[in-house]
Amino acid sequence: MRAYQILPGDGIDGLQCVDFPHRELGNGEVRIRVHAVSLNYRDLMVASGNYLVTVDDPIIPCSDGAGEVVATGPGVTRVQPGDRVAASFFPYWQDGPTAPDKVRHALGGDVDGMLAEEVVLDEDALVKIPDAMSFVDAATLPCAGVTAWNAIFESSNAVRPGDTVLLLGTGGVSILGLQLARAAGLNAIITSSSDTKLQRAKELGARHVINYRTTPEWQEEVLRATDGAGAQVVLEVGGQGTVNRSIASTAMGGSIAIIGGVSGFGGEVNPATLLATAKRLVGVYVGSRAMLEKVVRFAEATGLQPVVDRVFTFDQAREAYRHMESGSHFGKVVITVT
Ligand SMILES: NC(=O)c1ccc[n+]([C@@H]2O[C@H](COP(=O)([O-])OP(=O)(O)OC[C@H]3O[C@@H](n4cnc5c(N)ncnc54)[C@H](OP(=O)(O)O)[C@@H]3O)[C@@H](O)[C@H]2O)c1
Repeated sequence: MRAYQILPGDGIDGLQCVDFPHRELGNGEVRIRVHAVSLNYRDLMVASGNYLVTVDDPIIPCSDGAGEVVATGPGVTRVQPGDRVAASFFPYWQDGPTAPDKVRHALGGDVDGMLAEEVVLDEDALVKIPDAMSFVDAATLPCAGVTAWNAIFESSNAVRPGDTVLLLGTGGVSILGLQLARAAGLNAIITSSSDTKLQRAKELGARHVINYRTTPEWQEEVLRATDGAGAQVVLEVGGQGTVNRSIASTAMGGSIAIIGGVSGFGGEVNPATLLATAKRLVGVYVGSRAMLEKVVRFAEATGLQPVVDRVFTFDQAREAYRHMESGSHFGKVVITVT
């Protein structure tokens, strides 16, 4: 079977397609024929060697994939051949709050990931997907979908229908956050560097859109759009360049889910901007298998179809990475495998 490998730090040109022999399945292991893989900003960080965790040997990249179970090892009870499944970002975080042991490994980060024709995973890392959900759609959920879900529905103060969620930029996490928010009856405000992308976000139901290039003090616009109240939840993916504006955009008692740093990490936060307003900064690190199950169930119940910007073939993996790197995408970038 063929799989891509990359040595973190070697860049996109370091992606190599390699032939691997089959290996025997051990206790509790499952062989999956991968049909689709989605890319995350994190996969660019792994390629450039800037991800949180790293390894000294080449790994199979990408956390997010979906496919079909083709064989099960001894003792497997959760799935059977023919089942359609997606893999959970953290193979050892099944449920409950996070813990060091649960997030000790992440697919495509420090252990082999999903950019392969076949993968072998522990049965506990798998979530069944409904027949009506395509492999392409399912492949968008494990990182971006779960992160947005966790930020809005699990880690922040309870949101209620009619509350407002603020999303920064129109990448994978933000557009899935927009879709989840709208499907749950929440108002959404979204920013982007592109008016064309903002128009598309409006068509997806964003109530208010702001171009952060032409409106650099966009937090003022968020407050105006919410009659001075601010957003109950902010999905903060910007980092250094946006976190203080995100705090200013948040309602009293609201939460700023600290997710990413597309503008870099660092900078300062003044504690005084949080205390009298009881705002909460909450770190979000993807989420558990149980959260992935909830996202899948929610998508099935609401008919949510993740926005897929472009689909590349397995042989075009480098092109897919470069497309993601260009920042021209809106929503998710997917690679179909078999
Ligand atoms: N903590 C976690 O568990 C977790 C999980 C997933 C992702 N993340 C992080 O979240 C971030 C986004 O990930 P992703 O996969 O959604 O990335 P992505 O699809 O590549 O999206 C990035 C988008 O960010 C927007 N952007 C760039 N600079 C910006 C700025 N200064 N202010 C506001 N928006 C800006 C751009 O949108 P426009 O083109 O519309 O301007 C760009 O398309 C990354 O830092 C990633 O590492 C963290």
